[in-house]
Amino acid sequence: MKILETERLRLRPFELGDAEGLYAYAKNPNVGPHAGWKPHADVAESRQIIEDLFMVNQAWVIVQKETGRLVGSIALEPDKRRPEVASRELGYSLAEDCWGQGLMTEAAQEAIRFGFEELKLEIIAICTGPTNERSARVIEKCGFQYEGITRHCYKIYDGSVRDSRCYSLLKSEWEAQR
Ligand SMILES: CC(C)(COP(=O)(O)OP(=O)(O)OC[C@H]1O[C@@H](n2cnc3c(N)ncnc32)[C@H](O)[C@@H]1OP(=O)(O)O)[C@@H](O)C(=O)NCCC(=O)NCCS
Repeated sequence: MKILETERLRLRPFELGDAEGLYAYAKNPNVGPHAGWKPHADVAESRQIIEDLFMVNQAWVIVQKETGRLVGSIALEPDKRRPEVASRELGYSLAEDCWGQGLMTEAAQEAIRFGFEELKLEIIAICTGPTNERSARVIEKCGFQYEGITRHCYKIYDGSVRDSRCYSLLKSEWEAQR
């Protein structure tokens, strides 16, 4: 796992010691539910998620360079819809007080570059909930193409099943946009 840099952010691999920083924003009920996950109950749960999810997948902590603060996470996870293709699915979340400053677009563009240039991916996918307009805007700003809605496909933390708006970006499209 490589450390990535953007103008305002450093993306580095997760460590167990990041549990408190993750919990500080992931306990907020305005963050996780937009992405389908339950707000973290305590630091121990954040540590478990780092161990089970973030340290297993290609996931980075997002650190704001100016403050040194852990403000989010971003990951290139296995793309369950394309098991036979060099593809990953992008996922991310950001501390609520940092929303609306273009930070996730900045982080996502760098993760996408890493995916195509260094992981040699052919395509990167992302799915979001039907009402997650902020994330949809990040997705559009990163140049993803809208594929459509997969209906009734994603069981979220409260047991309900929701639709997913699906998008993807081919390497050729990404190269043409640069
Ligand atoms: C989605 C999320 C990562 C966006 O991060 P961010 O750093 O605020 O994103 P950006 O600032 O790069 O872009 C947000 C865009 O949404 C727009 N936006 C904000 N509120 C909006 C709303 N209610 N409706 C539509 N667009 C909205 C902003 O204006 C901005 O677009 P612009 O640059 O054209 O003005 C952040 O809101 C988050 O962590 N949400 C909770 C978790 C989540 O949803 N994860 C994604 C799961 S797919």
